[in-house]
Amino acid sequence: MTGQAAKYVGRLKDKVVLIVGGTSGIGYAVAEAALEHNAIVIVAGSNSVKLENAVTRLKSSYPSQSSGSRLSGITIDLADIENLETNVQSVLQFAANGAKINHVVITAADMMPPPPSLAEITVHSLERTSRIRYTAPLIFAKHLPKFMDQVSENSVTLTSGAHGHKPDPGWSAMIGYLGAVETMMKGLAVDLKPLRVNVVSPGAVITEVVREMLDEHYDMAIEMAKEKSLVGSAGTPESVAQAYLYLMKDQFVTGTVLETNGGLLAWQLQGLAIRWAYP
Ligand SMILES: NC(=O)c1ccc[n+]([C@@H]2O[C@H](COP(=O)([O-])OP(=O)(O)OC[C@H]3O[C@@H](n4cnc5c(N)ncnc54)[C@H](OP(=O)(O)O)[C@@H]3O)[C@@H](O)[C@H]2O)c1
Repeated sequence: MTGQAAKYVGRLKDKVVLIVGGTSGIGYAVAEAALEHNAIVIVAGSNSVKLENAVTRLKSSYPSQSSGSRLSGITIDLADIENLETNVQSVLQFAANGAKINHVVITAADMMPPPPSLAEITVHSLERTSRIRYTAPLIFAKHLPKFMDQVSENSVTLTSGAHGHKPDPGWSAMIGYLGAVETMMKGLAVDLKPLRVNVVSPGAVITEVVREMLDEHYDMAIEMAKEKSLVGSAGTPESVAQAYLYLMKDQFVTGTVLETNGGLLAWQLQGLAIRWAYP
């Protein structure tokens, strides 16, 4: 490497990366990974205590990479539809900090409470999920051009989920949004070109909220995830974060869904799927 620029590992150096949903789980791992790549990182979430906690933990894990203004956080509630346009512009302005943003990652989602079954859905619950998972990314996309140069070096990465392609019983209410995000992404890749827009579609990933959601079914669910996986394990946030990093770095990838699910879509035992929904 002597005398040669770090053209692979250095690709995110000093790039401004905004992670909406970066205060826990997969988004938090993306924040860690971006700091390891010497990016300037901004994390956003709705809960101010959780945000402060995430920034503190990141600073303690990456003291030199997060020094000065290289790491910051800002709150936004994507469910606050009345103020969404104003709040999204405030977040983008904060992240740009007088310059421009290079990469936006959106992992934010209302993971708790778990999605209601078909019999339990209400118009209100559907509408709230729609705001966070569908409307908010579109409103970000609307305002991005003021804060990001539309060049292929820059990117937007949204998040869907493998359940959108292989639903377990009880997922009707949720999976439409996962498919909608993937379809929306293709439209955005066209509308924002040559800025790149992609989606990461994770399988089962053991994040804090998933542990909380599974509660006493955790051990059984992990066993099932292992059996449904070609790699013999559930995913980790650290593994899935690599997908987001790749999509930021490859200037030739756009309009794509990147699946990271341990081979779930190639290997699904239907009997196990029924056990997951009715433990
Ligand atoms: N974990 C999995 O097994 C899995 C599988 C497939 C797909 N996914 C997808 O991956 C993404 C991340 O999942 P995860 O497990 O990492 O979840 P997570 O840990 O709960 O992370 C969700 C993030 O979104 C933020 N958020 C939630 N509601 C928000 C709101 N109203 N406004 C702004 N931010 C909000 C949360 O912060 P606050 O709580 O502070 O708002 C948090 O930072 C989700 O889109 C999920 O559907 C996950």
